Amino acid sequence: SSVKVFSPATVANVACGFDVIGLAMDGTGDEMELRISDQPGVRITAIEGADLPLEAAQNVAGVALMAMLQEYGQPELGIEVSIKKNIQPGSGIGSSAASAAGAVAGANKLLNDHFPPESLIRFAMEGERLACGTPHADNVAPAIMGGFTLVRSYQPLDVIRLHTPEDLWVTVIHPQIEVKTSDARGILKQQVLLRDAIRQWGNVGALVAGLYREDYALISRALEDVIVEPIRSILIPAFHDLKLRCKEAGALGGGISGSGPSVFMLSKGADNANAVAAMMESIYAPLGVDYRIHVSRI
Ligand code: HSE
Repeated sequence: SSVKVFSPATVANVACGFDVIGLAMDGTGDEMELRISDQPGVRITAIEGADLPLEAAQNVAGVALMAMLQEYGQPELGIEVSIKKNIQPGSGIGSSAASAAGAVAGANKLLNDHFPPESLIRFAMEGERLACGTPHADNVAPAIMGGFTLVRSYQPLDVIRLHTPEDLWVTVIHPQIEVKTSDARGILKQQVLLRDAIRQWGNVGALVAGLYREDYALISRALEDVIVEPIRSILIPAFHDLKLRCKEAGALGGGISGSGPSVFMLSKGADNANAVAAMMESIYAPLGVDYRIHVSRI
C-alpha cells in the first residue's frame, strides 16, 4: 500500500515568537509518496526539484523516519519515500521541516495512525537537528498540525494548536539568496535585555489573544520583534522598506520568515494579500535580485 502527502510550507517565529510560534501555508508545499517495503529500514527512492542527499541518514526525511521506526520497534519493517520538493532549501519557509513532517505524517498513515501528533513532531524535530544543529519545532509543529502552533515548552515537549482567524492570509517573498539557518542562528546574541524581553512577551501574549479574538488590529500591533529581527534583518535586501511599504499597501504587519531570507506579511483577506504581493514585486523588481512570491491562506 502507498500514501500521497501534501506537506505545507511554514513560517516560523511570526515576528515575536522566536522558536515558539509558527504557521502553515495552506497552498504551498511539497508532495511526497510513501509505501511499505519488504526491505527493512528507510529508503529515499527519488528527490525531484532539489539537490539533496538520497542516503537516509543524511536526509532530513530519512532521519525523521528512522527515529519513528526505532520507536515503532519492528526491525523488519521497511519504508520507501519519494519526494517532490516545491519548497527550495534555504528559503526560510520550512523546506527541511516540510520534508521531515511530511515523511512521518505519511508513514503514520501507513501504520494506521499509530502515533499521536506530539510524537510525529518529536520525530520530525530530528530532521531539524540534522538540518541546522538545533531541533527547533516551530516549523514542524505547524506542518503537522496545520494553522498556528505554539511551543509552550521544549522539555518536556508541549505544543499547542492555536485558533486561526477565518480570513487571515500570508504573503511571502523569497529572495533567491541562500541564508543558512545555522549561520542565522550563529549571529544571535545569547543574552537579552530585560526591557526587550518584557516587550517581546507582551507581544507574544497579544498575538495569541488577537488570533483567538479574530482581532486583526491587535494582531497588527503584536507583529513586532525587538530581539532577533534587528540582528538578522541586515542579511535581507530592502528589509525595512519592504515592511514599511507593505503595511501601507494593506498588510497587518510581518517580519522575517523563520531564519530568512524570506519575508512574510499577514493580511486580512485575499485582496490585501495580493496587494502586498504587488508591492513586494515593485520593491524587488528594480533591485536585480531574483525572487519568488507566494500568497496563501493560513
Ligand atoms: N526558529 C528558527 C529560527 C526557525 O529562527 O532560527 C528556522 O527556520
